[in-house]
Amino acid sequence: MNPKMQRIIRNPSFLLLLLCLLEFSGHFPVEAAIKKYTFDIQVKNISRLCHAKPVVTVNGMFPGPTIYAREGDRVIVNVTNHAQYNMSIHWHGLKQYRNGWADGPAYITQCPIQTGHSYVYDFNVTGQRGTLWWHAHILWLRATVYGAIVIMPKPGQPFPFPQPHLETNIIFGEWWNGDIETLVNQANSLGSPPPTSDAHTINGKPGPLFPCSEKHTFALEVEAGKTYLLRIVNAALNDELFFGIAGHNMTVVEIDAVYIKPFTTKAILLGPGQTTNVLVKANRPPNRYFMAARPFMDAPVSIDNKTVTAILQYKGVPNTVLPIFPNLPAPNDTAFALNYNNKLRSLNTVNFPANVPLRIDRRLFYTIGLGMNPCPSCVNGTKLVASLNNVTFVMPKTALLQAHYFNMSGVFRTDFPDRPPKPFNFTGAPLTANLGTSIGTRLSRVEFNTTIELILQDTNLLTVESHPFHLHGYNFFVVGSGIGNFDPKKDPAKFNLVDPPERNTVGVPTGGWTAIRFRADNPGVWFMHCHLEVHTMWGLKMAFVVENGNTPENSVLPPPKDLPPC
Ligand code: C2O
Repeated sequence: MNPKMQRIIRNPSFLLLLLCLLEFSGHFPVEAAIKKYTFDIQVKNISRLCHAKPVVTVNGMFPGPTIYAREGDRVIVNVTNHAQYNMSIHWHGLKQYRNGWADGPAYITQCPIQTGHSYVYDFNVTGQRGTLWWHAHILWLRATVYGAIVIMPKPGQPFPFPQPHLETNIIFGEWWNGDIETLVNQANSLGSPPPTSDAHTINGKPGPLFPCSEKHTFALEVEAGKTYLLRIVNAALNDELFFGIAGHNMTVVEIDAVYIKPFTTKAILLGPGQTTNVLVKANRPPNRYFMAARPFMDAPVSIDNKTVTAILQYKGVPNTVLPIFPNLPAPNDTAFALNYNNKLRSLNTVNFPANVPLRIDRRLFYTIGLGMNPCPSCVNGTKLVASLNNVTFVMPKTALLQAHYFNMSGVFRTDFPDRPPKPFNFTGAPLTANLGTSIGTRLSRVEFNTTIELILQDTNLLTVESHPFHLHGYNFFVVGSGIGNFDPKKDPAKFNLVDPPERNTVGVPTGGWTAIRFRADNPGVWFMHCHLEVHTMWGLKMAFVVENGNTPENSVLPPPKDLPPC
């Protein structure tokens, strides 16, 4: 070989190119790659339901771009903020081991990215594969700033279910005709909830049951006999949603990027924050079939009964054919919801074990409460608030992770109570009395590697309601759930410690409780909150500060140089 050729071959960039080519050709599995993305936060005029308005977007797209990665990859997203609002992006469901700096909730793990500034989110995708999503984690900006994250298994590792012919994302969202931040500010000055959205959307489109929506309908073309994988994300702000496809069953194979034991169903249920992968076989007569989603609401509050539709269209069927509508569960079908959630079981195989903590170091019991506080400046003299164990969380002015890492005092306290200050009949008659709710930036301090059991108990303070709870930095096992008050004597005997579902967001049933378990092996400050934006805003949130372990490998990584200042 001539010397010039030898130099080319020894050149590292040539070798890299060769490796990439081999990976693409499927001959040589490259363990990890770097996936780079650029997110430009910019305002764009978007029109839906006969209204056009400027909205905050990523790269002018609504919904934003999908992040594709493979298990083991490193993902680098350079976010530059050109909008008038402060911004931060959360990678919902990514565990961010030791790396809370890339988690994203504003004032929890980072100060927001100010207008004209940039921040690089740099993280590894380790031990996870499936569908997750990303969203703005400040104010209500996630109404338009969200997108899917698709994590493929490592090369050579097939799905533990039949390989689909094609896959597509189905992302539920909510659309307001007005400017969302203006609507929220107006509601807060009145002390009342912001108006419900004007439409739900699928992939940003409300579908033909809403006005001016002919052009704004998502359609999936299918070929008879083929199987499709739908990666479904509930990015709605305040609604749990049922979803179904006319005439077709769905086989649920994954929730929150964790494989489950497959089961077949006519409808699925997702709380805000949750993701679900289903297989759909195009095995019906060629036609056009509606895919539809509408809220599940079994609390005694007003039902938002709007239905968003998209179309599953068999190849060759003309667009003039009227689509068939699915049979969705009734909006208040509690039995369907409980039964559906009971069917979710971890795979629990050698390759995908369910490592449920069996010995518990620390037991926590948190009550979920709504309430009304005096508010002299509000229209009716009161404002709605929410609390966990009677604490309404107050957002700090400095990011908590920085305060923790740099030992800054006065930013937060670590006395968040492990149980409610005064026990009461949590789910008895409606309570309107002021329970002496306190406010504060109070965190729960957890020693590294502690095993935790947390009971989330709904209460009838003002009203019972279902609450989708999300924990950052971890997956947890949902070991039990029930209606009424949790009974520490009887209920633990019924826990599923063998194959409980593992997820990052779980619905606490209306007037009921949910028990979750996890091992606190990820040091840092991790937010936990109701994923109904209206409740998060009212204070239904707290954070765990998980201490470092005793080696550098078990400690929070140093912060990146470009971490935004407050
Ligand atoms: Cu999907 Cu703290 O959020």
